Amino acid sequence: MSKEIENQLWEILKGITFPGMSRDIVSFGFVDRVALTAGKLEVDLAISTHHRDQADQVRDEVESALRKAEVADEVVVGLKSATPHSTAQDAVSQDPNLIPEVQHVVAVASGKGGVGKSTVAANLSIALAQAGYRVGLLDADIYGPSMPMMFGIHEQPLVERERLIPFEKFGVRLMSLGFVLDDDTPVIWRGPMVMRAVEQLLSDVEWGPLDYLIVDLPPGTGDAQLTISQKVPLSGAVIVTTPQDISLIDARKGLAMFQKVNVPVVGIIENMSTFLCPHCGEATDIFKRGGGERTAEILGCAFLGRIPLDPAIVEGGDAGEPIVVSDPEGPHAASFKSVAEAVVAEASKRQANELSIF
Ligand SMILES: Nc1ncnc2c1ncn2[C@@H]1O[C@H](COP(=O)(O)OP(=O)(O)OP(=O)(O)O)[C@@H](O)[C@H]1O
Ligand SMILES: [Mg+2]
Repeated sequence: MSKEIENQLWEILKGITFPGMSRDIVSFGFVDRVALTAGKLEVDLAISTHHRDQADQVRDEVESALRKAEVADEVVVGLKSATPHSTAQDAVSQDPNLIPEVQHVVAVASGKGGVGKSTVAANLSIALAQAGYRVGLLDADIYGPSMPMMFGIHEQPLVERERLIPFEKFGVRLMSLGFVLDDDTPVIWRGPMVMRAVEQLLSDVEWGPLDYLIVDLPPGTGDAQLTISQKVPLSGAVIVTTPQDISLIDARKGLAMFQKVNVPVVGIIENMSTFLCPHCGEATDIFKRGGGERTAEILGCAFLGRIPLDPAIVEGGDAGEPIVVSDPEGPHAASFKSVAEAVVAEASKRQANELSIF
């Protein structure tokens, strides 16, 4: 199949939404396979839902849209439909009804590790809560969950009526893989186990109504990250990068990953920017200036703001009191607040666009 036809087919599929939802079937990860051979177009859908009739409706819509495109003489659309919360292997893709009370789910991601993703996720969540939003934070980093340390919580969550109760600290409802894994859990899990655990952190946690659920993703853009991005019903993603030019490559990989699952990238945050001297307050650019902005411009997404490089940010994270809590009036808290405002602005812009469709 030529690239051009393949793109055309994916565009058609992206134009089909799940009944009652504003998101399309590609971003939900419901399209399992697309193949075109000898005039026969085959598309397999794998839909996880309690409503088989809606899955059938999607199948019919896909079939008629593909017929209209006239790229093949024959169109065959297969449907595998599973009920959510079965075994990990069966639970294909994302369940749109997983967290119905959550308005925006925003992933914090990065192309590579150690750029300050968890630091940004923690401070951004708290800054949103300080601004009056109802906020949850899900630490889905399968390699090294850092939220227990950043929030200074080292207990097991309570279970009530078979549901996990999130911790509530600094105005944020928190759940982390770190709370449910014990230290003996092997770092390298088998894929299905990881996915089951992440899914449980969404469906079996008493999140309650939230304006924002921030998700700290594992670093990188490999299979694990891709699967989590498909599994979690993301409304958008922010990419954390450092100012060096080289990080453009990683940011681009991150963007490409989200494009694959049709999740909009809300924008780019530049972390570890300018160093503010704690003695004289003078700003020094350790790396080149403006890397994050240039990256955002090249990748065509919004620049959400920059966070300075400062040992105080490390201390805050290590001591279980992020900087927006320990120094709420300081310059770093101000940076996180302006990033939070930018995220809110982008999210509401997108919501307005979605609503205008109706
Ligand atoms: N703006 C900053 N100034 C100084 N240090 C920072 C800043 N942001 C993060 N750090 C420090 O850098 C280290 C890595 O940060 P963090 O754990 O948030 O990164 P990450 O991208 O989540 O890493 P991983 O890929 O391991 O999940 C931590 O020690 C953190 O305290
Ligand atoms: Mg991290």
